[in-house]
Amino acid sequence: MANRLPVAWDDIADRWAPSPGGLVSALAPILVDRRGAWVGWPGIADREEEPFRLEGIRQVPVTISAEEFTDYYEGFCNGTIWPLYHDAIRPVEMHRHWWRPYVVVNQRFADAVISETAVDEPVWVQDYQLQLVPAMLRAATPDRRIGFFLHIPFPPVEIFGRLPWRREIIAGLLGADVIGFHTRQSARNFARAARVFSTATGPAGQLSWQGRTITVESVPISIDTAEFKALAGSPEIADAAVRFRRELGSPRHLMLGVDRLDYTKGIDLRLRAFQTVLERRPDLRGQVTFVQVAVPSRAGVEEYQIIRDQIELLVGRINGEFGRRDWVPVHYLHRSLAREELVAYYRAADVMVITPLRDGMNLVAKEYIACRVDGTGVLVLSEFAGAAEQLDRALVVNPYDLDGLADTIERAIELGAGEQRDRMRYLRRAVTRWDVYGWAERCLDSVLG
Ligand code: ADP
Ligand code: F6P
Repeated sequence: MANRLPVAWDDIADRWAPSPGGLVSALAPILVDRRGAWVGWPGIADREEEPFRLEGIRQVPVTISAEEFTDYYEGFCNGTIWPLYHDAIRPVEMHRHWWRPYVVVNQRFADAVISETAVDEPVWVQDYQLQLVPAMLRAATPDRRIGFFLHIPFPPVEIFGRLPWRREIIAGLLGADVIGFHTRQSARNFARAARVFSTATGPAGQLSWQGRTITVESVPISIDTAEFKALAGSPEIADAAVRFRRELGSPRHLMLGVDRLDYTKGIDLRLRAFQTVLERRPDLRGQVTFVQVAVPSRAGVEEYQIIRDQIELLVGRINGEFGRRDWVPVHYLHRSLAREELVAYYRAADVMVITPLRDGMNLVAKEYIACRVDGTGVLVLSEFAGAAEQLDRALVVNPYDLDGLADTIERAIELGAGEQRDRMRYLRRAVTRWDVYGWAERCLDSVLG
């Protein structure tokens, strides 16, 4: 169960289209094999649809009304929980009239499972939109195995504790037999919050509550590494990467940022650090081009509109101040890209800058590494991305430290081929050994008990 189905309704083509992604590729074969179902929202408000079979999986759509989209999805999920769980780096809006729709929608998801499955069939619930579902399922079907995985960080108890509904959320999650997080830090934060805001007891990895044992574990998600490697290694992608560089004016150094347009991603500070580099290193002007791809996201939420304006203002300032007839410092693309185009950018870029202020994992970091089939390339990675726990041979930075970030960007641009290869070898080994299939298998083993 996830907030979104792995397929979305395409209004123009008038049909369901698969929405590919790591989670879908990892779980699809397992669900096909076990004749499982995927419960989720079809991505459009007010769409009522009977369950159907697509891509070998039974798809069980859950309807969300336009009003619920505003109060549950944009409101409680992305106006309250999202900023709160990302260390409250933006104001956390709390409204009592957003809480009720969150409960109602969670109950609808739980009811869909109850009517679709036998009472003892295991269920694996994904992410912050559905934190009450485990307890709702437990109440209706006490003998079922229930797993939950949080794809975003779980904040320190001092921040989580601001939530007026903190006890309800903890009780909701504790309905599961196993609760997974990307990092040890999130797992520890959760266990602490559970002990403070419920009667749960016991060590961080194994809580006891209401006569049950709840396993709390960290299992970092990964990507379909083999698929990215194969695509990046194809001659078509190699050609496209060469062409992209040429079309960008053949810069000596190509730097890349790829993110959903979200204030957690630190795109604004990254741009300011790049601006600092250009200010203090006139010799690099005309030599470095920065391509920033920002995927439109949650455009109805005010903070997302604010950050978009801030980013676009900065891009304009930098290009206005430093641009020349023969060189545009920042190429900014506000759109989604086809997988092939994205991979060609990864192959073309000498330096990838991933500087979130807080991120559950950050799959883009892993995708960049998988796509560096020639063993070169430099990853600049925020210490606040979950991925930094495993990718510690990247150039790890504190994204709030503008001078430090500017220093690291300079260092990345100028890093010698030998050190690039040493670091990249280690990083490539990490994403090869631990891919999304390993992640799904580990998690499902725990869920199934
Ligand atoms: P988040 O889950 O917060 O969006 P991640 O980095 O973990 O961040 O995952 C983002 C996913 O979106 C990656 O799999 C990446 O390939 C994909 N993606 C990022 N930018 C684009 C883009 N411009 N077009 C298409 N897909 C993108
Ligand atoms: O990383 C958290 C997450 O909710 C993912 O599950 C999702 O793919 C991404 O953010 C985009 O979010 P939304 O479903 O709100 O567009």
